[in-house]
Amino acid sequence: MKAIVLAKTGGIEELKVVDIEKPSIKEGEVLVQVKAIGINPVDVKTRTGSGVYGRINTESPLIIGWDIAGVVTEANNATFSPGDEVFGMVNFPGHGKAYAQFVAVPANQLALKPANISFEEAAAATLAALTAYQALVKNANITAGKRVLIHAAAGGVGHFAVQIAKHLGAHVTGTSSAANRNFVLSLGADEHIDYKNHNWQQSENSFDLTLDAVGGDNLNLSINVTKPGGSFISILGLNDERKAKATDKGVNGNAILVYSSGEDMNVIAGWLQKGILKAHVAAIFPFEKMGEAHLAVETGRTVGKVVVVV
Ligand SMILES: NC(=O)c1ccc[n+]([C@@H]2O[C@H](COP(=O)([O-])OP(=O)(O)OC[C@H]3O[C@@H](n4cnc5c(N)ncnc54)[C@H](OP(=O)(O)O)[C@@H]3O)[C@@H](O)[C@H]2O)c1
Repeated sequence: MKAIVLAKTGGIEELKVVDIEKPSIKEGEVLVQVKAIGINPVDVKTRTGSGVYGRINTESPLIIGWDIAGVVTEANNATFSPGDEVFGMVNFPGHGKAYAQFVAVPANQLALKPANISFEEAAAATLAALTAYQALVKNANITAGKRVLIHAAAGGVGHFAVQIAKHLGAHVTGTSSAANRNFVLSLGADEHIDYKNHNWQQSENSFDLTLDAVGGDNLNLSINVTKPGGSFISILGLNDERKAKATDKGVNGNAILVYSSGEDMNVIAGWLQKGILKAHVAAIFPFEKMGEAHLAVETGRTVGKVVVVV
């Protein structure tokens, strides 16, 4: 089969298409013929030596990528059978090996792909959708009426987070540049903030929950705009200084890392099937143009998701 291996960390030229053996499956796994792959900032970070590179760099061949949608061709489990259309995030934050024509996946990391969405949309609704779900529902246990701020609301995680928070009855504000205002409002956000032209002092102590998908100095902003007694979640880490700053203010600050879960994928699948959640696919690249897909994600300007088809 064809796979894209990471020869060494560096530029997109290190992503090499090679022919390797199809993986074999163990008890509890399925073999998936991949139709579409979701590309994330962590793919780019790992390619360049950060992200989860330190967790998987002893593996050979090293095949990055985690988000897949495809068709089961072999099954050694009680849940799925050959012919099932499935999607999920494979072995994150471990070795996903998703940049390949076939991927061996623990069945408990997958869900059936809803029939009403394409493989491209399904591949897009994996890592980013799981992050939004695990942050807002499992970590923050968001409830109706809460005032929620979603930073980077036009991006992969943010565009799912707006839809999920809205579905759960929150009053949602999303940030993006002015260019993406209409997109953010189209997701159901009640209010939009153009982060480049906003007087943030006016928004101090305004939100019960803030989801920060930007990091760096933005974390200070997130603490300032969260009400005492409220929470903020960083998906870009949280150092001791900022954690202490949040605690001093009476704000509960958490950093989370998304993890593979078929149970959570099933919730996402149900929402996609009902049209509650929609994946916005901004760009689709062929497998051989994986490097270009990385460059698109690397701009940091993605609206929704970038997907590669196999
Ligand atoms: N901890 C975890 O488990 C986890 C999971 C997923 C992602 N992440 C990390 O979270 C970050 C976001 O991921 P993603 O997939 O959502 O990225 P993404 O899709 O690449 O995000 C792109 C979006 O970010 C927006 N943006 C950039 N700077 C902004 C700012 N200062 N304020 C508001 N919006 C801004 C852009 O909107 P404009 O063009 O309008 O500015 C663009 O739409 C990445 O660093 C990723 O690695 C962590």
